[in-house]
Amino acid sequence: MAMTVGLLVPSWALLRSSSPSSFRHGGHSNNRQQQLLLQRKETVCGNAGARCRKYKGQQFCGIVGSHNASVQARPRTVEKAAGEHKAERPDQKKKGVVITGGSKGLGYALAHQFLSYGHKVIICNRNEDQLATALQTLQAEHEGSIVYGMCCDVSNAADVCAFASFAVEKLGIVDIWINNAGEVTSKKILADVEASEIVRVCGTNVIGSLLCCREAINVMRLQPSSELPIFHIFNMGFSQWGANFTKSSCTHKTTKVALTQLTSSLSSEIQAAGLSSIGVHNLSPGMVLTDLLLKDSTVVARRFFNTLAEEPETVAASLAPRILAVQGTRKSISYLSPASAFLKVALGFPQIIQGGRFFDKNGNRVEVSGNRYQENGVRIR
Ligand SMILES: *[C@@H]1O[C@H](CO)[C@@H](O)[C@H](O)[C@H]1NC(C)=O
Ligand SMILES: *[C@@H]1O[C@H](CO)[C@@H](O)[C@H](O)[C@H]1NC(C)=O
Repeated sequence: MAMTVGLLVPSWALLRSSSPSSFRHGGHSNNRQQQLLLQRKETVCGNAGARCRKYKGQQFCGIVGSHNASVQARPRTVEKAAGEHKAERPDQKKKGVVITGGSKGLGYALAHQFLSYGHKVIICNRNEDQLATALQTLQAEHEGSIVYGMCCDVSNAADVCAFASFAVEKLGIVDIWINNAGEVTSKKILADVEASEIVRVCGTNVIGSLLCCREAINVMRLQPSSELPIFHIFNMGFSQWGANFTKSSCTHKTTKVALTQLTSSLSSEIQAAGLSSIGVHNLSPGMVLTDLLLKDSTVVARRFFNTLAEEPETVAASLAPRILAVQGTRKSISYLSPASAFLKVALGFPQIIQGGRFFDKNGNRVEVSGNRYQENGVRIR
């Protein structure tokens, strides 16, 4: 595929604390193609402190967008009181979808799927290069569609705030917010895992989802109200069954079960608070052939993945229509149920013994010609 160069232009978050005008800008761009002819991207985030700006003592990192993106810090107290700043109801057919960590794996596949249906998508990532690559590919594959990204560490409150403002500016209305960003720790016993790794993984998985839910609700509560949920937030938690079944570390499982509780408690809380337009749900993608699953996986586990796991796009193609169709609150959308997992293992037994679908019996990735693979077996786009 022809790579488009110079699609990305960074611009600094414009931190103005006065007007709540980000709600009036729908952020819909028309002559995108002209606007894409801009300079080479620069490094705007990561730990390059000099590239970040300080606002109220916290750092905001830069923005990567397909054109001159600018963000205003939302003056929350003003906006919450100001009913006249409610955004207008958009074209029902085009939904605004936010996916955290959408630059690889399942998040990327979901972004691709929503764009292919004609919806508008915002992604984020901590790593600017990964984000830039993902945006370039998504833009090239979905010409004329609305897709933007921003560097954001979901465990950082200021980043998440800036990201939510960016999403509102670009989408107008945020219909769906998917807390997809997640990490695993190395598969060691808790006592042997680096303390900093535990803090980082809990930060991304738990604090990240909490902060993102908080921002998403603050965005959605200002959108047109409704008696039934029309705006939806998704967390990727584990059921008790999922936690028992998964072979990930104790830290990872702990965070994932916490997210299930978050969905349940938050759903009740916002209904009780009268925010009836917002639904909160759980999304269980099952086993997806990504870094998260394949990191440190054993040969036996890999042989099981032949029957239980799927490539991200297969899972995304199944989940995206169900995400779009969700109604009510506290629903659970799963790719793999206990019954279907049991059936897959039973029917796929020869694959577990002999290998062949994704991994051979020694746990090596079965390579399909034309595809490239990472050392851990993850297919490279
Ligand atoms: C980018 O945005 C800034 C701030 O709104 C503006 O001053 C500048 O002229 C814009 N640049 C382009 C190329 O549109
Ligand atoms: C999960 O594992 C625990 C401990 O082994 C067990 O008590 C519990 O019933 C299991 N739950 C499910 C849903 O499998």
